[in-house]
Amino acid sequence: MCDARLNRTVTIELLPLGRTLRVPAGTLLADVLFAQGVEFPCGGRGRCKGCRVKILAGELPVTADDTRLLTPEELAAGWRLSCRARADGDLKLDLAQWDAAILDDDSRFAFTPHDDLGVAVDLGTTTIVAQLLDRRSGHVLGVRLALNPQARHGADIMSRIDRALAPEGLATLRDLIRRQIGGMIAELIATTAPDGGALPLLRDVVVVGNTVMHHLFCGVSVEPLSHHPFVPDSDGLHVLPAAELGWNLPGATVRFLPCLGGFVGSDILAGVLATKLHESAELVGLVDLGTNGEIVIGNRDRLLCASTAAGPAFEGARISMGMRAATGAIAEVSVTDGRLQCRVLGHVEPRGLCGSGLVDAVAAGLDLGRIRPNGRLSDGTSLMLAGPVKLTQADIRELQLAKGAIAAGIRLLLGQWGATPADLTRLHLAGAFGNYINRASARRIGLLDFPLDKVAPSGNTALLGAKLALFNLPEHAGDFPELRRRIQHVSLNEDPQFHEIYVEKMGFPE
Ligand code: FES
Repeated sequence: MCDARLNRTVTIELLPLGRTLRVPAGTLLADVLFAQGVEFPCGGRGRCKGCRVKILAGELPVTADDTRLLTPEELAAGWRLSCRARADGDLKLDLAQWDAAILDDDSRFAFTPHDDLGVAVDLGTTTIVAQLLDRRSGHVLGVRLALNPQARHGADIMSRIDRALAPEGLATLRDLIRRQIGGMIAELIATTAPDGGALPLLRDVVVVGNTVMHHLFCGVSVEPLSHHPFVPDSDGLHVLPAAELGWNLPGATVRFLPCLGGFVGSDILAGVLATKLHESAELVGLVDLGTNGEIVIGNRDRLLCASTAAGPAFEGARISMGMRAATGAIAEVSVTDGRLQCRVLGHVEPRGLCGSGLVDAVAAGLDLGRIRPNGRLSDGTSLMLAGPVKLTQADIRELQLAKGAIAAGIRLLLGQWGATPADLTRLHLAGAFGNYINRASARRIGLLDFPLDKVAPSGNTALLGAKLALFNLPEHAGDFPELRRRIQHVSLNEDPQFHEIYVEKMGFPE
């Protein structure tokens, strides 16, 4: 690329996000959109068109993959695959993805129209996404993303629990998160008006999140979550008047959907609703590859769920040069002609390694014989990736702990269900990491030991499930006790085979 292009910056305006970015000319859109919460269902490989955006102003040349996946009418209307496009000039883009989840397929996601607005919130340990929805049409009117302000009191859920157990800790964390989400909703309302007209009333807010987020938002003691058997006292549906939260939304009700038990929260309940696991005739699974890997396996007759303490390696934490998937992170590693090739987010010098890059790097190291099946580096030093970024022996060990926990969890849950891996017809991967991880690399390292065509990146299933509940609340509110009764929570570490299978799964396939 010529220097003149690198020195020039362009602006990208994103709707309905309402955010404008300044980036170097020539930046791959995927690199900047990922940080804005946009998902790339096929990992940006030009296979799914889930990442399509509509050009409202500016130009993006039509690529070969655009022509292959989009119709001539869609191309003429300005649709492009964002994973294939570079920003060479100023752009205004409509992020269709925010709408797609509800409206993509009316038969799968049919909804009951209401005469008001609603907000769906996915409250994560690290990030929060809130969508304002027109419940008359099903359209997304606006989106807000934010970092969870509790993160300054600890990056993972265990440190949040520690903080909440300190004097005034619970109130501090509760108030922080309530204020943050209340502010996001106020901003959404202030900046959104359909066609310049007045907005109808906002009556319902549905929030989903993991068990710890559930407790902290609702102001429930996390003490039972701090020790064995990790059984929460009050993990049911919480209905709170907005006024009680200090939100200026007269008459509005906020519902935090119920947890499934232990460390399996309403984000997973929402994921079950979104993927329709509970209606499937065949055996299917849902995995959220996070610090606390959550797994559901089953069909319409029987569902089992569990959580595994995978640790934060998939988020780049506890990795010597680990970082979140942001500018400067190595997000992909492959082998060409016996040499490592790295893709860095954001067109800059590499400065760290994010979760997807970590999985790729270890897979590549195994293929090159630089990492042995037992996890030892063959030369005993480190694996240089790009620039100053390298993989150490301790990094590989962290990944082994994380992937061993998830792989063992899936195997044990299948065993308790009375099935084998071959019986599973589909495995949904929830969340951003699940979308970005290279499935072949995940298989190479023994994280997901299933044929690639059975593994389906399924996007933000937590947010989609929250939206489904928002549109069909009376019906789903009635469903939840029944659905929760059908999903049996399993404590994996009480399984007599737990230790043996965990140790086995920490190794890499030959
Ligand atoms: S086609 Fe772009 S993410 Fe799949």
